Amino acid sequence: MDQPTEPLALPQATPPLLLSGSTTDAAVSGAPKPRLTWVPVRSLTSRHRDRIAAHLLALDEHDRYLRFGFTASDEQINHYADTIDFDRDEVFGIFNRRLELIAMAHLAYAPAPQVSGKPAMAEFGVSVLHKARGRGMGARLFDHAVLHARNRHIQTLFIHALSENSAMLKIARNAGAKVEREGSEAEAWLALPPDDFASQMGAMVEEQAAEWDYHLKAHAKRVQQIVGSLSEVTTTLKDKIRDTTE
Ligand SMILES: CC(C)(COP(=O)(O)OP(=O)(O)OC[C@H]1O[C@@H](n2cnc3c(N)ncnc32)[C@H](O)[C@@H]1OP(=O)(O)O)[C@@H](O)C(=O)NCCC(=O)NCCS
Repeated sequence: MDQPTEPLALPQATPPLLLSGSTTDAAVSGAPKPRLTWVPVRSLTSRHRDRIAAHLLALDEHDRYLRFGFTASDEQINHYADTIDFDRDEVFGIFNRRLELIAMAHLAYAPAPQVSGKPAMAEFGVSVLHKARGRGMGARLFDHAVLHARNRHIQTLFIHALSENSAMLKIARNAGAKVEREGSEAEAWLALPPDDFASQMGAMVEEQAAEWDYHLKAHAKRVQQIVGSLSEVTTTLKDKIRDTTE
């Protein structure tokens, strides 16, 4: 397949969302974290803008630089979250048991019509909170994005990273991407196979499983809150009874 010669031009309305840089912190401190076997990935919608903003605002300065290619201010992050085009693009998230968005990826599709004569393209950008790194979530989101991009007839996935971004480039290389370094910057191009029955079914099953997982977590959280309030009431009652009997 022909390799596109220049990065996907994203429209002005979409900030330079997918530029990135180095990752030296992941999986470097302490004992290796356990790899997760299967993690549910949920498709995010415009309802999740606040959570997306909260996730990105939790990134420190260096991570913001890695993720956006510049040290995005809080205001720029809020603007980014407010202007994601959910009709055109896809955003995926991984939630922990407390329903905190700990990892997210943005798959930005080039605006239609795509450049004639060039492979249909999408650009991938990702972030994982520090506490969740080194457990395969970045790679999981990448695989998930590949599946969805294939199902949208995308032929090439593009990733822009700094040359020193070992984790991001490892994810891309592991998937078979061709990485081109130029000074401090690197570009990775992954040629995608066409969609098929397995990719369509795979995406559907994953979607459903992620929805169930989310609702189970939400239910467990509510039960925990009820148990918490009940134990508070019990403690207050016990205190009151003790006070009146003393
Ligand atoms: C890049 C990032 C998403 C990786 O997330 P992650 O969940 O920690 O990555 P994974 O656990 O899936 O690891 C993916 C691969 O990179 C390797 N890796 C992880 N951290 C690494 C590091 N610091 N140095 C070298 N390799 C590393 C892993 O070993 C794994 O390779 P393997 O499967 O061959 O063992 C995360 O570090 C991050 O959010 N960085 C800040 C934002 C950013 O750089 N985004 C990319 C912009 S597009």
